[in-house]
Parts: sequence; C-alpha cells; structure tokens
Amino acid sequence: MEKVCIYPGSFDPLTIGHMDVIHRASRLFDRVVVAVLHNPAKVGCFPTARRLEMIRKACASMPNVEADAFSGLLADYVDRLGAAAVIRGIRGESDFSSEAMMAQVNRRLNPRVETIFLLAKPEHACISSSMVREVASFGGDVSPFLPEEVLPYVTAAFSKKE
Ligand code: PNS
Repeated sequence: MEKVCIYPGSFDPLTIGHMDVIHRASRLFDRVVVAVLHNPAKVGCFPTARRLEMIRKACASMPNVEADAFSGLLADYVDRLGAAAVIRGIRGESDFSSEAMMAQVNRRLNPRVETIFLLAKPEHACISSSMVREVASFGGDVSPFLPEEVLPYVTAAFSKKE
C-alpha cells in the first residue's frame, strides 16, 4: 500500500528549510503532500493560491511531491487523505515544545495521527518564513534563505510595498 505523508504549514513563503524537510520526507514516503493551511480569516503575506504555486514550482523535480490546500482541522485532513504520518520540521528546543503540544492535540483529536519530527540542519536553524518577511520588508537580501523559484515572488511582493 502507498505510504502517504502530509507536511502541513503556512509556507508564507516556502523557505530552503522547508525544502530540506520536503526532500528528506520524499525519500521516506511514497507520496508527500505539502499542505497549505487555508485560513480566509487570517490573510498572510501571500494568498493561498500563490503559496501553492511557489511550492509546485520549487518541488517540480520531485515527482512524488504535490501541493494541496486544506482548511479546518489537520486531524480530519489526515483521514481524508488516508495519510500514514504528519511531518514537521524541528529547528531546536523551542520548536520542540510547541510542536510536541500540537502533536499531542492532533493525536487526541484523531488517534490515527502519527507525527514524525525531522531535525533541521544546523545551517537552517535560523530560517523561518517570518524572518524572511521581516528582512524583505526592510529591503534586506533574502536570497540565501529561499529556493530560487520563490525569490521572484518575494522580491515582487516587497518591492510593491516600499
Ligand atoms: O507553518 P505553521 O504556521 O507552523 O503551521 C501550523 C499548522 C498549519 C500546521 C497548524 O496551525 C495546523 O495544523 N492548523 C490547522 C488547524 C488544526 O488542526 N489545529 C489543531 C492543532 S494545534
């Protein structure tokens, strides 16, 4: 049977830290669904459709990786896809405490949810979408933190805001 994992997140925008997790998950599972949380009440920097576009472009060379949007509970989405696991990246101790809490909640909501943590590479420990947005908003160089397919989207979004 095909083993599917879900890698959920905001991906606002996708970073090289996310890419590393996706790449590693693609070697562990038959299929990886990168799932963008669609929350119309919380408009981020990029609309959901744009986030999906960035993920699809950046992951085009990985045939077992796809992008999807979900709304509502992750625990329900896991059942809809019949996924074997949820993947989350952990950059350090502070991530671990909040991620462990989220994994426990998801398992309470749906005992079939198994969360697997992938430890980020040390060189990715400081990279987050919020840091990228902040640096970009002040005109800083965000190219070291982004897949090359994503950089034009971020450059365009923040050059409009100046
Ligand atoms: O990239 P993020 O913002 O850390 O991702 C968080 C995400 C989207 C994985 C999480 O907020 C989520 O799963 N939201 C869906 C709603 C849900 O299931 N909440 C209960 C678990 S705390």
